[in-house]
Amino acid sequence: MDRWTVSDGTDTVTLSGDPERWLVELDVSNPTTPGDPSDELGTNDDRARRLLEAATQAVAIQGGGRLEYWIERVHQRSDDIPTQAGFVPYRDLLRLRRELPALITDLVVRPFTEPDAEAFLECNNRAFDWHPEQGEMTSEDLATKQAEPWYDPEGFLLLEEVDAEGEPVITGFCWTKVHADEKPALGEIYAIAVDPAHHGRGLGRELTLAGLSHLADRGLRHAILYVESDNRPALKMYQGLGFECEFTSRAYQRIVR
Ligand SMILES: CC(C)(COP(=O)(O)OP(=O)(O)OC[C@H]1O[C@@H](n2cnc3c(N)ncnc32)[C@H](O)[C@@H]1OP(=O)(O)O)[C@@H](O)C(=O)NCCC(=O)NCCS
Repeated sequence: MDRWTVSDGTDTVTLSGDPERWLVELDVSNPTTPGDPSDELGTNDDRARRLLEAATQAVAIQGGGRLEYWIERVHQRSDDIPTQAGFVPYRDLLRLRRELPALITDLVVRPFTEPDAEAFLECNNRAFDWHPEQGEMTSEDLATKQAEPWYDPEGFLLLEEVDAEGEPVITGFCWTKVHADEKPALGEIYAIAVDPAHHGRGLGRELTLAGLSHLADRGLRHAILYVESDNRPALKMYQGLGFECEFTSRAYQRIVR
């Protein structure tokens, strides 16, 4: 992964990734509050737009590629600057939240162990074959996540069932994460999936409850998760479990030939 910055001495734009996905991050010094009608706002908006344009030019000079820019917690005017800079909104990620504890489930799950890696990856990649980040996970990607400070196999819950031949098979999982540094501390349903061959059996709902139960047992009182705005099966499931939308983050992209 490459990383470079463009700066005019006051404001900075950072690009990281590769031509398939240059992630753009702006650092506008002393930004005003979004929606503030003061003169300053126009100045900061102009500066943000110029940074996006500078990032686009930098990618063009490097031979082209796709730029991706995220705004966390969008509001009514969030689209203004990126669209003026030629970026197009293309992905909304909702953050949902509910209080803990939730209902208890009878579903029997167990923590991940290293010999489960291959079966987990197969299940994950079948369930998330459409997903830009969670799909096509390799054993190296898994190892990278396991090396993160928050990783805890006790919160990485697998559902193991027996197939028609009597062989054990991973049919779903609920991977949780604890944000101990947040105030109050937050539990997250980090990734949950059911093998597509087993959808519609009620397993997704029970796996989510198993994850929530694990987080509540850790003393956490709030659970969050991130879900694509167009993931209707997951949204229906989460709404049925009492999750509510807290905010939306939006991705914008610009393709430079
Ligand atoms: C989301 C997912 C886990 C649901 O698993 P599942 O075992 O099929 O879901 P369940 O059978 O437990 O159903 C739970 C609820 O969701 C609803 N639901 C499930 N699939 C649905 C679909 N395709 N369309 C509409 N609603 C659906 C069910 O109607 C049910 O609601 P109800 O309790 O009111 O009847 C599964 O579709 C999946 O693995 N998807 C891919 C991975 C993914 O998107 N994970 C979530 C990322 S945030």
